[in-house]
Amino acid sequence: MSKSLENAALRLSGISKHYGYIKALDDVDLEVHPGEVVALLGDNGAGKSTLLKVMSGAHQASSGEIAVNGRKVDRYDPRVASELGVEMVYQDLALIDTLDISTNLQLGKEPLMPFPLNLLGFVDFRRMHEITETQLERLGVRTAPAERPVEMLSGGQRQVTAIARAAVRLFERGKGTILMDEPTAALGYEQTKMVEGLIRRMADTGFAIVLVTHNLPLCFNVSDRIAVLNRGRKVADVPRSEADHSSVVAWITGAERAIA
Ligand SMILES: Nc1ncnc2c1ncn2[C@@H]1O[C@H](COP(=O)(O)OP(=O)(O)OP(=O)(O)O)[C@@H](O)[C@H]1O
Ligand SMILES: [Mg+2]
Repeated sequence: MSKSLENAALRLSGISKHYGYIKALDDVDLEVHPGEVVALLGDNGAGKSTLLKVMSGAHQASSGEIAVNGRKVDRYDPRVASELGVEMVYQDLALIDTLDISTNLQLGKEPLMPFPLNLLGFVDFRRMHEITETQLERLGVRTAPAERPVEMLSGGQRQVTAIARAAVRLFERGKGTILMDEPTAALGYEQTKMVEGLIRRMADTGFAIVLVTHNLPLCFNVSDRIAVLNRGRKVADVPRSEADHSSVVAWITGAERAIA
């Protein structure tokens, strides 16, 4: 099926958002399709995080429409979004510092010891670490050893762990839309590459991904489409093949526009 006929995983139409007298978003349209990575770019204060918050239901738009899988959604909040398969990847906010990596990843579905210890709720930690190591390997992600408490991790390791946690949960669901706000902001070269690979693999298995980033190499390596906000307005939305470094910079600074 051609992309224009297929339902968008998430579609925003005419979204505006005011914070008091500040107009953070002005009549923004944006679509992301299954299997597609849309990079959302723009200078500081352009409205990128606000747009992601509207997409995740964390903030209500002042006006405009949201449709998930081709269906308009009337009441949209994070719970509804999550039920419909739209997930925001929160960074270290989502992790519990005092618990180790495995427990953070398996939270709520920890494997229990064999009968009768399971009746008492005893967790099989060895098994849990094994499950976690396997999942991380499958995701192509390396962080610290699975039994290390999150509070001991470096900023980059925490970030990778948080992304892996979201990825594990979403992979189980099998499809949906993933929203990421600067997932590589605190990452070094190798970890950025790891997250890049993870984003691409998730898209290749059918997830729709919206990635906010200031990292242009990441954007070019991983995206299928590039959308740019400038002072709350969408000024560019093109296939990646139609963008290069200088055009993207011109859109970000507001010198040019391109909606294709
Ligand atoms: N909760 C809020 N209350 C008032 N104004 C807000 C709020 N959140 C964002 N804004 C304003 O809306 C505009 C867009 O902010 P937003 O955080 O979406 O920008 P951004 O593109 O994510 O920037 P950055 O690249 O710096 O993260 C800014 O002018 C900001 O000050
Ligand atoms: Mg932001």
